[in-house]
Amino acid sequence: RQKEKHALIEAHAYSAKLYHYLLQNMEVAKPAKAYLTSRGFTDALIEEFGLGYAPARWDTLTQALERKGYALAEMETGGLLSRRQESEGYVDRFRDRIMFPIHDANGREIAFGGRLMTDGQPKYLNSPETPLFNKSRTLYRLSQARPAIRRTRQVVLLEGYVDVIKAWSAGVHQGVATMGTALTGEHAALLKRFADEAILCYDGDDAGQAAAHKSIPILEEAGFRVRVGVLPNRLDPDEYISSYGPEPFVREIIEGAVSAVKFQLIYLRKSHILLEEDGRIRYLREAVRLVARRDSPTERELLLKELAHEFGVSIDTLKQEAADVRQQEK
Ligand code: UTP
Ligand code: MN
Ligand code: MN
Ligand code: MN
Ligand code: MN
Repeated sequence: RQKEKHALIEAHAYSAKLYHYLLQNMEVAKPAKAYLTSRGFTDALIEEFGLGYAPARWDTLTQALERKGYALAEMETGGLLSRRQESEGYVDRFRDRIMFPIHDANGREIAFGGRLMTDGQPKYLNSPETPLFNKSRTLYRLSQARPAIRRTRQVVLLEGYVDVIKAWSAGVHQGVATMGTALTGEHAALLKRFADEAILCYDGDDAGQAAAHKSIPILEEAGFRVRVGVLPNRLDPDEYISSYGPEPFVREIIEGAVSAVKFQLIYLRKSHILLEEDGRIRYLREAVRLVARRDSPTERELLLKELAHEFGVSIDTLKQEAADVRQQEK
């Protein structure tokens, strides 16, 4: 068990080095290098994040691991290789993909995310769950971001590998990402040891906004103060930084992130037709419910004032409604 894990960790370190070497030195990696350059990845970023390239042929890693004396069946369990379809033996799991190494909390390579350079499915192929890699406990770049998270007592949660890297190059070093799975209570508990505030900065598309909405209670239950960085025009952080630059990203999106309840109110709006009285009443009732759940009386009062003003009702009416809700939910 333990010996097998040890071999897998060694094999991941070796594979990451190999993929990185291939990207930086081989003729077959030229298109991959060009792709990365076109997406704004400098050599410094490629080095810092240890990016690599898995060639298109079937046996680059398989042969290398075999030469090194690794048991290929173990390497398949570890997610580096796949079983051959028609015959005996193994082939590389990752082929013709840009490789993003994923580390455990101690900074050891335990998995990979591999991106296609052309349209195709899946866009990202990740390592499967293995003895080393548990997705609901692993966050991309946590070990490297930990010093900045501790220093700022703040963690920025992003959706994608590329977003973490581009946010980092914009100076946001406290960024981590889940990898194609929803944020879990385990993720939140892990992060809570180092930070008090979580900033959700997911993609601006519907999927990203829905994911942010779902993540708020998970983070709040873990004890975080939560804010949300809302991106315009369905952009993701990488696209936003490319369009507007690093400075506005830091200032407007991260530093200007809105409170969780503000975000929930914005989110709630999208599912109500405010031009109709019926819709307005229902929105207000739901909005007051959100506000009533806040612990701070000052926060409640300020939010109710804004709602009262916007919808032309008296603050007393909304306060009464909020008190009712608080009573009900006790
Ligand atoms: P996105 O689809 O938003 O990708 O998925 P992205 O990071 O913006 O990708 P680029 O910018 O086109 O390269 C966000 C994250 O969800 C996971 C990956 O971790 C990705 O970074 N994902 C996405 C998968 O695991 N598999 C997929 O097929 C797609
Ligand atoms: Mn290098
Ligand atoms: Mn997305
Ligand atoms: Mn995205
Ligand atoms: Mn993207």
